[in-house]
Amino acid sequence: YDLILVGSPVFYYDIPENVVDWLSSAPKLTGIPVAAFVSFGGPEGNQHNALCHALHLLAEKEAVPVGMEAFRSIAAYPTPDWDSANQKAGEHLPDEATYNRVREFTRQILESVRQGQSLAYSSELATRELVRMLPLVWLNKKAISKHTVDAAKCIGCRTCVKMCPVGAIHPEKQFVDRDKCIACFGCLNNCPADAVVIEYRGKRLYGFPEYLKRRKITILEPAEFQHCSL
Ligand SMILES: Cc1cc2nc3c(=O)[nH]c(=O)nc-3n(C[C@H](O)[C@H](O)[C@H](O)COP(=O)(O)O)c2cc1C
Ligand code: SF4
Ligand code: SF4
Repeated sequence: YDLILVGSPVFYYDIPENVVDWLSSAPKLTGIPVAAFVSFGGPEGNQHNALCHALHLLAEKEAVPVGMEAFRSIAAYPTPDWDSANQKAGEHLPDEATYNRVREFTRQILESVRQGQSLAYSSELATRELVRMLPLVWLNKKAISKHTVDAAKCIGCRTCVKMCPVGAIHPEKQFVDRDKCIACFGCLNNCPADAVVIEYRGKRLYGFPEYLKRRKITILEPAEFQHCSL
């Protein structure tokens, strides 16, 4: 490879544990330039340290870090009302300024590769590191009072199965393995039929597509996507 670019969302103040596992299982990448980016939903998101974590895992494989960048985006974290000030502050993102920063980021990485420059990085000591000492996923799972599939609504598309990073959801049995589940909300956020039922402290959550629909939000895509067949 000439360059490896790794992107991840920030979940629970860090890169998600399945991303950690994936990066940890990479083969040796000796001398290969690597850059990392994260998307995150809130200014308190610990995005810098999440990036450092990703680069550190790649550096352990002897890759050469050449770039890192964090892009704030509309948060896809389902809350009972999707109504916090933070959520509203990010509702217009990503915008053209975000995409300009992405373009600048890619220019900078390519320039560093051409010049053979590496990136020095170090994590910051932040109060968020104390929050991270809490078992955040476990606490969230405790707050989830119900997690199942509504058989009457389920259309059997198995999107939730594909999206679940840990194989915890079995829609045909209306069963979620709560021990395996890492509370990523991927099933809820991707079900096209509103069939994934999650109650948070007794209140039914709705997922990201439904939130976009209710708020009439359209995600702005970069101009480059018009010519992209993916
Ligand atoms: C389970 C979960 C946990 C999250 N935790 C954080 C967080 O700790 N900090 C943060 O800034 N954003 C957090 N977010 C918001 C995501 O970082 C945000 O939705 C991001 O845009 C996701 O990337 P994507 O837009 O590429 O899917 C979380 C989202 C989910 C679904
Ligand atoms: S994504 Fe929704 S509709 Fe599709 S199988 Fe899963 S629960 Fe059923
Ligand atoms: S929230 Fe849904 S997709 Fe995420 S781990 Fe749990 S069952 Fe799987």
